[in-house]
Amino acid sequence: MESQALLTPIKIGAYQLPNRMLMSPLTRSRANNPDSAPTALHAEYYAQRAGAGIIITEGSQISEQARGYAFTPGIHSAAQIAGWKQVTDAVHAKDGRIFIQLWHCGRISHSYFHNGAAPVAPSAIRAESGNCFTDQGIVRPELPRALTIAEIKAIIEDYRQAAKNAQLAGFDGVQLHGANGYLVDQFLHESSNQRTDEYGGSLENRARFLFEVLDALLSVWGADKVAVRLSPSGIRGFDSVDTDPVSIFEYVISRLNDYPLAFLELVEPLDPVTDKPQMVQKVAPHFRPFYRGTLVSNGGYTQETANQAIQAEIADAIAFGKAFIANPDLPIRFARNAPLNAWNQATFYGGTAVGYTDYPALA
Ligand SMILES: Cc1cc2nc3c(=O)[nH]c(=O)nc-3n(C[C@H](O)[C@H](O)[C@H](O)COP(=O)(O)O)c2cc1C
Repeated sequence: MESQALLTPIKIGAYQLPNRMLMSPLTRSRANNPDSAPTALHAEYYAQRAGAGIIITEGSQISEQARGYAFTPGIHSAAQIAGWKQVTDAVHAKDGRIFIQLWHCGRISHSYFHNGAAPVAPSAIRAESGNCFTDQGIVRPELPRALTIAEIKAIIEDYRQAAKNAQLAGFDGVQLHGANGYLVDQFLHESSNQRTDEYGGSLENRARFLFEVLDALLSVWGADKVAVRLSPSGIRGFDSVDTDPVSIFEYVISRLNDYPLAFLELVEPLDPVTDKPQMVQKVAPHFRPFYRGTLVSNGGYTQETANQAIQAEIADAIAFGKAFIANPDLPIRFARNAPLNAWNQATFYGGTAVGYTDYPALA
């Protein structure tokens, strides 16, 4: 490969990037301290990956209520802000840029995390699949209780505060986690949102929560430092399928044109959805015509298919997940057409530096 589209510079939002390779958000469950705060180990891990055009952090809960998993970091306490500051300083020292992914799990959670109370969601509908993990092991998400309107407004304030905290922690921007069956996505889907008030029913109503959260983030950050992540065809089975899963995303993505965001990241389904013909099989090509801003595509890309997607103008940049777990110097490897380290799934979640900061860079 002579010249690679992935390795050409691009301006994304407020930032001039040296390449079109983002590191996608990756939960690694190493915040196993009483504060759920990032540590020096997190700083080392992210700094190793500072060659990415933009790093998007692992999902970080905006409140204790937002939690669905053990050992995930938050962005709602002073200790967490201080922990993240070590991370952003380390990434900036290596000339990188880093956005934090703001996360509320909603119904993908368990009473274990809420002093015995049910998790919260748009409606009291249990997720049919998916799992959470506690420090006791993997558990099924429980039946949630439906949020009141006052509680929805309070969660929007939690997002606003998390956005402020992200500034204190020195981030370059924030990404709203609207994907993968978590709270924002739960509002979008009729299978998880059966509300009869202004947050349920019509496309506009189901999208209301997303846009109110986005407005809260934009009250803190310039739009050119705010990103949104969506997974219009799911990632893998966290959800039952709506009768019409496409219109809501065409509606949301079209409306996002009104916001000059840094970028919109769209996730491809990881497993084929050929058994779900009502879903879009290839997300980026379908939704590209609906969006005029910077589009980042993620999910299952190789060096070759990523270069092709940019050349074909299906996406402006590509986010890589597992390849960045195993290859801290992924852009350099692509530039040299060097072989890649294989990832080890056994050390994705939890544990120590093993399988986290010990993947070798090229000599
Ligand atoms: C270990 C692991 C953790 C993940 N954590 C998150 C997360 O915190 N937030 C998110 O939006 N997606 C998360 N994902 C999804 C990835 O960002 C990405 O969409 C997925 O790995 C597909 O991209 P890839 O084929 O380049 O790996 C995770 C994936 C993996 C493998």
